[in-house]
Amino acid sequence: RKRTGLLLTSSALVLAGCTGRQSALDPAGQEAAEVYHLFAVMVIGGGIIWLAVIGLLLHACRGQRRAWSENEASRLIAWGGVAFPVVVLFALLVYAVWLMPTIRPWVARAVPEPTLIEVTGEQFWWRVRYPAEDGMAGFETANELRLPIGERVAFSLSAADVIHSFWIPSLGGKMDMIPGRTNVLSLQATKTGVYHAPCAEFCGTSHAYMTFSVVVMGQDAYDDWRRKQASGNQPGGSEGERLFAYHGCAGCHSVRGTTPIAGLGPDLTYFADRETVGAGALRNTRENVERFIRDPSSVKPGSQMPAFDMVPHGDIAAIAEFLTGLR
Ligand code: CUA
Repeated sequence: RKRTGLLLTSSALVLAGCTGRQSALDPAGQEAAEVYHLFAVMVIGGGIIWLAVIGLLLHACRGQRRAWSENEASRLIAWGGVAFPVVVLFALLVYAVWLMPTIRPWVARAVPEPTLIEVTGEQFWWRVRYPAEDGMAGFETANELRLPIGERVAFSLSAADVIHSFWIPSLGGKMDMIPGRTNVLSLQATKTGVYHAPCAEFCGTSHAYMTFSVVVMGQDAYDDWRRKQASGNQPGGSEGERLFAYHGCAGCHSVRGTTPIAGLGPDLTYFADRETVGAGALRNTRENVERFIRDPSSVKPGSQMPAFDMVPHGDIAAIAEFLTGLR
């Protein structure tokens, strides 16, 4: 009974991985749904063939009542061993190849060039650039994507240092991000929600901590968000805002509207709207922001950001308060 309990718990744990924010088996986008259907067809088809083969095997093990004629045996081999696999495998091949977007160029071409959302993989975070669109200015953000539901979007993917890989399991993908090369991936989200996307190519010590969130929103909410991002934050004149510049944070990070554009590290405009600190390393709370500023490498080994533990704790607290108030 103990063993049954263990089996049930472990299979429940395994199945729990099949739903939620990061699952190719719980699709929230057209491309993910296609991959899921391919998976289902392969598994069910493979299961039926497996059952038929095992059935034949058991039948053969039971012993033959009469010997097969040579003719019957060669017919079984010709139909069961050659014709059947050729037909089934060819049909699966055609279906699988048909699902590739490059085979159906109108899927990739559906998005006009200027609306490409640029995503660059950097050790160990994601630079995101939204183009100017519908009279709204373009802007840069980081570690979070927002997408309108039901709208086909395309990403222009590249990398600044080593190879990373862009993958939103719930929506589709994945595609490598290669320094010096631009890959284009097109996706269409079909369900609102917040999804989770990991870097899918080993890229260094903090590869496992390189993730981003994808928020799929209604068109109006998405337009509001774009407008808000495009206009930047309002300067508030707080102590934290002043210390952000004084201690050099603004040398690498921009808070558009309050600092000059720096562009070395992740853009922090409307930082409080993001779920995490450090591209998925920690939940976005004031304590965690303080912890990250004090010693990023303790949270994210290999992070390019130096430790700021020489800055007085009160100043770090004020900067964290400033950042977690940017909404
Ligand atoms: Cu970036 Cu792995």
